[in-house]
Amino acid sequence: LVIDQKHYGPTALVTGASDGIGRAFASELAAAGFHLVLVARRGSVLDEVAREISARHNITTRVVAADLASRTGVQQVIDATKSDDIGLIVLSAGFGTSGNFVDGIIDDELQMIDVNCRAVAELSHHFGKRLAQRKRGGLVLLSSLVAFQGVPRTANYAATKAYVQSLAEGLQHELRPHGVDVVASAPGPVGSGFAQRAQMQMGKTTPGDVVARQTLAALGRKTTVRPGWLSKLLGWSLAFLPRVGRVRVMSVVMGGMTKHR
Ligand SMILES: NC(=O)c1ccc[n+]([C@@H]2O[C@H](COP(=O)([O-])OP(=O)(O)OC[C@H]3O[C@@H](n4cnc5c(N)ncnc54)[C@H](OP(=O)(O)O)[C@@H]3O)[C@@H](O)[C@H]2O)c1
Repeated sequence: LVIDQKHYGPTALVTGASDGIGRAFASELAAAGFHLVLVARRGSVLDEVAREISARHNITTRVVAADLASRTGVQQVIDATKSDDIGLIVLSAGFGTSGNFVDGIIDDELQMIDVNCRAVAELSHHFGKRLAQRKRGGLVLLSSLVAFQGVPRTANYAATKAYVQSLAEGLQHELRPHGVDVVASAPGPVGSGFAQRAQMQMGKTTPGDVVARQTLAALGRKTTVRPGWLSKLLGWSLAFLPRVGRVRVMSVVMGGMTKHR
């Protein structure tokens, strides 16, 4: 994968880099020659990821262990990267919940809004401004197949992803004149730590490295990318239905993914 170093380099910041899709982005970017700042809560896992990546590629890695559910955690990331020449930001940290919203624990639901939306807003604001000032760069936001309609039994998670999708579409137009590309990546089910934390059961999944590669290839070319054949198939079959129809189909899909509960 060739990513324009002049435009997006020399350093990339990846949140959610300790697992799944974020970790896959970190590997792909290291292979493309980017220096890395890796963010997640589990510092020891990040250290391991950084060691493994530095052993394979001739790049520098730095780890910031921070909880993005809190504004202090977000500020930690901002403070730790003040003097880095960051050209690419991948905001992959996030999680989901499932089951009927009113049966869930409200603290978990609010924490999900903090990580999936509030931290994304604050980091996009801070780094979007920095990238616009240097007149080049890229911002990758993790949306989802669930972002395009309401989804029963993961209603609040789908709503957080609708926020991310909408934010990316708006920012793409605002930042493009300043030389900054924004892409929303909207995968279907991906094989990662996500399903376990969200208590969902996924059948077929797309590997995280496919998501990372196809998203980076779309940066600067598309506003929204649906990585993997599964998200394309599901996305296209839903695209021809009116919104109410999509909600019904997703209700059946999510019913299947949560019937073990
Ligand atoms: N997997 C899917 O099916 C799928 C589909 C569509 C979209 N997505 C989106 O893709 C993104 C990545 O998901 P994934 O599949 O890679 O999940 P994952 O394997 O569970 O990884 C999530 C990452 O986010 C980090 N994270 C979670 N809470 C955090 C917090 N409070 N502060 C800082 N970091 C935090 C985790 O690290 P620590 O635990 O170390 O903090 C981990 O590195 C999410 O935004 C998700 O909504 C996933």
